[in-house]
Amino acid sequence: MKTIMNESLNKSSVGKTVTLYGWVSKKRNLGGLLFIDLRDRSGIVQLVVRPEYSIYSIAETLKNEYVIKVTGKVVERESINTSIKTGEIEIEVETLEILNKSNELPFEISDTTTALEDTRLKYRYLDLRRSSLSEKIIARHNIVMAVRNFLDNENFLEIETPILCKSTPEGARDYLVPSRVNKGKFYALPQSPQIFKQLLMVGGMERYFQIAKCFRDEDLRADRQPEFTQIDIEMSFVDEDDVMDLASRLIREVFKKIKNIDISLPIMKMKYDDAIDKYGSDKPDLRFGMEIQDVTDSFKNTTIEFIKSNIESNGIVNAIVAKNCSSNYSRKEIDKLTEYVKTYGAHGLIYIKMEDEITGSIVKNLSDEEKENLINTLKLEKNDIAFIISDKKNITKASLGALRCKLGRDLGLIKQGDYKLLWVVDFPSFEWSEEENRFMATHHPFTAPKDEDIDKLITDKANCYSKAYDIVINGYEAGGGSIRIHNEEVQEKMFEALELTEEQIREKFGFFVDALKYGTPPHGGIAFGLDRLVMLLTETENIRDVIAFPKTASASDLMSECPNVVDEEQLSELAIKIEKK
Ligand code: AMO
Repeated sequence: MKTIMNESLNKSSVGKTVTLYGWVSKKRNLGGLLFIDLRDRSGIVQLVVRPEYSIYSIAETLKNEYVIKVTGKVVERESINTSIKTGEIEIEVETLEILNKSNELPFEISDTTTALEDTRLKYRYLDLRRSSLSEKIIARHNIVMAVRNFLDNENFLEIETPILCKSTPEGARDYLVPSRVNKGKFYALPQSPQIFKQLLMVGGMERYFQIAKCFRDEDLRADRQPEFTQIDIEMSFVDEDDVMDLASRLIREVFKKIKNIDISLPIMKMKYDDAIDKYGSDKPDLRFGMEIQDVTDSFKNTTIEFIKSNIESNGIVNAIVAKNCSSNYSRKEIDKLTEYVKTYGAHGLIYIKMEDEITGSIVKNLSDEEKENLINTLKLEKNDIAFIISDKKNITKASLGALRCKLGRDLGLIKQGDYKLLWVVDFPSFEWSEEENRFMATHHPFTAPKDEDIDKLITDKANCYSKAYDIVINGYEAGGGSIRIHNEEVQEKMFEALELTEEQIREKFGFFVDALKYGTPPHGGIAFGLDRLVMLLTETENIRDVIAFPKTASASDLMSECPNVVDEEQLSELAIKIEKK
């Protein structure tokens, strides 16, 4: 059995004879001496093979990615290599055995590889040999271990919940699994263990956690996978502050263990309405300022027709200011930004530049008073540029919020390695759906409303707020949860608010609603997106980097070529016919 990891070797190992196993990462011949970089999971160590040794002829045949076993003496190196951890030593190889050969590689195993991601995904097992990837998988393990230990110490039980289950209420599309035994019936893969963890509270488990696989058939983005992992938590006899306190301490522990960063507690809280108002997002990135400012008042007497009619129909005019960089934005650049905000629904983008004189898209139509007003409200100084949007409230906020993040990145306002955490609290219970022309639950339908808003479930949905909270790190929603409804009457009101019929309730959540009638304790919880947490801690913006075997943006696995067709026989056993389109 292998007992030594390459990177455990250092100057204190000098003089020892060691047996090492690994892959040939590189081989060089320098004046007869063969230098081999031996790679294992932990890193690289340099092997030296002298021409006078009998194994020299075997060493000469080595190619990249051959698997070898060597025995040799650890010696101090003449010239230190500071780019690797074992750079002060090397191994004088005495015995060498080739354990396996390797085919010609489809791409070079190197951290500077230029191979396309699709090629690397097809040969994921080779890509995993690159340290920039394996380091992230190792970090993921360390994060999971830190979480498990922390929660175990806090008296939580790790409990598994089913994967083949009934449709769960997180609001995305389900992945379905046909049943052979019950033809024509389907299981759904869990979008989260939500219902089960609440049932565990009814079952008296009091403190539950699970590193839980979740499945959601939704449009994929750089931070979304169809199957992903949650650190799922539920607790009985708690209020919102208790759950946020526990989750904050868990996050502090993980940051300390993985990055040696001290997160100071308590983590700040921001109301949902304020987050939307100032940052145009319920996941604000607080690593830079550039808050959204309201300038509707500056336009109250405007003669600019589209702004006037927007304000008259309850629209707003908001702005963000990029300090001291008006010269960065040529007409062409601003056109690009205009196209960018249009993707968020905005009709256009107004700009004002403070150069020798005030210039910009609408300046000639502004009165002196309006100019003065804008300059004062936005505190505009020389070389500042203000971007203004006049539109419906939700479009204005979302567009400026997205533009703010883009400018923050483009202008280099985000310091590498900086972390800004916050809790977003007081979410509205309902969101208006233009598509469905009715209020929909912002979270799942078991989210408790604020005590003072229980009646508003029926009378004033637009102003009904919930006991839900999200933890946001650097603009990512890293986790979210809520206090649940444990009272049957409130649950009924919620279903009524969501316009669910008796029949629909029975059909969808019957067993769950029944369970609430048998002494359900007050309870609440949270789920962290493990993949997103690993992304943040390993500083990558690509969720595929932190998952050993991820899916592409079209939800396929290029290595195993799945999803794929199945045998006619399998389909007929399931009584399924594929309709040819
Ligand atoms: P929610 O739906 O907010 O809550 O999910 C919790 C966290 O999971 C992560 N997440 C994802 N990560 C990667 N890919 C995805 N497709 C994806 N979807 C969500 C996010 C998110 O914050 N049952 C509730 C939690 C609760 O109320 O306790 C739930 O699932 O980081």
